Amino acid sequence: MKKKILIVDDEEFIRLSLGEGLKDLGYKVATASDGAEAEEKVKKIKPQIVFLDMRLSNESGLDVLTKVKEIDSEAEVVIMTAYGDTQTAVKAIKLGAYDYIGKPFDLQEIDIIIKKIIKSNELQKKLYIYEKEKRLSTEDLIGEHPLMKEVLKRIDVLAKNDEVTVLIRGESGTGKDLVASAIHDNSIRNNSAMIKINCASIPKQFLESELFGFEKNSFTGANERKKGLMEIADGGTVFLDEIGEMPMELQPKLLRFLEERKFKRIGGLEDIEVDIRVIAATNKNLEAAISNKEFREDLYYRLNVVPIFLPPLRERGGDIQTLSNKFLRDYNHKFNKKIKGFTKNAEKALLRYSWRGNVRELKNVIERIVLMTEEDYIDVEDLPFEIRNDKKGEAHGLYKKTEPGTETLDPGFSLEREVEQMEIHYIKLALKICNNNFSKASEMLGLSRFALKRRMEKYF
Ligand SMILES: Nc1ncnc2c1ncn2[C@@H]1O[C@H](COP(=O)(O)OP(=O)(O)OP(=O)(O)O)[C@@H](O)[C@H]1O
Ligand SMILES: [Mg+2]
Repeated sequence: MKKKILIVDDEEFIRLSLGEGLKDLGYKVATASDGAEAEEKVKKIKPQIVFLDMRLSNESGLDVLTKVKEIDSEAEVVIMTAYGDTQTAVKAIKLGAYDYIGKPFDLQEIDIIIKKIIKSNELQKKLYIYEKEKRLSTEDLIGEHPLMKEVLKRIDVLAKNDEVTVLIRGESGTGKDLVASAIHDNSIRNNSAMIKINCASIPKQFLESELFGFEKNSFTGANERKKGLMEIADGGTVFLDEIGEMPMELQPKLLRFLEERKFKRIGGLEDIEVDIRVIAATNKNLEAAISNKEFREDLYYRLNVVPIFLPPLRERGGDIQTLSNKFLRDYNHKFNKKIKGFTKNAEKALLRYSWRGNVRELKNVIERIVLMTEEDYIDVEDLPFEIRNDKKGEAHGLYKKTEPGTETLDPGFSLEREVEQMEIHYIKLALKICNNNFSKASEMLGLSRFALKRRMEKYF
């Protein structure tokens, strides 16, 4: 995104020559000839940098500086002074100007100042921005299943249309984060920030101020104006993760923003306009949330301009193998191993397993195996117990519901395995009920701590 610069000078020649020069250097430029026009433009355009002449016809540049800072404390103001007028320059710095430059100046000097400001602002921004080592390409996203091919196609279209709102849905671990990053990384917004906000992890009462910012004195403790993440992300992408957890009270504000691209800071009267793309994600059933009056239907439609649905891994067939091979390559590299592949039986077991944790679970499993195995090929024995023994996640044997009188045992039934499955089931249940308190869980199961520990070592 081009940086926005405002030039405030009463001399038309300066406005024109500096303006044209800066445009040539790739900046977006606006000009104003007096204080009133400057105030108006700061409100409307929200320049990152203002070059302000100290000697305007009828007013002092210092007054204009104060006004500009009042409107937008984060706009950086560079003062243009007559040669030798250092006293005014010092006053200006005290009032919050970033720097000053003596007239006459050349364009190169100006450009150096601009770059310095951008750099220091970027440093500040880094506190919020999700950092990644490299940009994702669509090749980093494995998916050959037809539903995944459709996802990849949509990512391409969305990368080219950088204003369109996106709603990504899918179970936990299916790749929602990854898809959001791929959309941002491949769009022209990739030079600006992508800010990720998890609506579930920010306490309800702070979410509004985090997102939209606040004005000085808008509530106790608001000692100065603060920009929200939506403003900080200007030019980039905002990823609203777990949108289903957005509090009902805040939903109208987000809706208004999506409709009008404007919002007010808490306690603010002015509308703030920012240029961002919103990508939202959830693993929640939003339709059910709408019927339960926990999610606004109008907001749902606004978000759902282009939906992306990520299928659960267990329904993606061959992708399981492709992903396993990819993660095997990645972790071979990471742990300096040379494992060649999977045996046929191991492949079958991976394919059969129900992968409730989806791609994340598969990735973690492969990481663990690569770390532990010393063999050339990964065999069934190397897989975690649950995967070795899972039959598409169905309850079988003892749990199987059949008509009375028709009970039978599956071919290949193993009593030992059934008992193990039951043990795992009840151990997990007890640990969940007892919040992972080991002593309580063993008591609940009627086992000694030692006996529970031994079983845990066997199964998990
Ligand atoms: N298609 C894919 N190709 C390669 N890696 C993938 C793919 N999908 C997901 N992953 C990897 O799986 C892990 C989980 O993905 P991600 O964090 O994007 O899931 P999520 O849907 O956002 O999960 P949650 O709902 O828990 O936030 C990540 O490490 C991601 O890199
Ligand atoms: Mg996620």
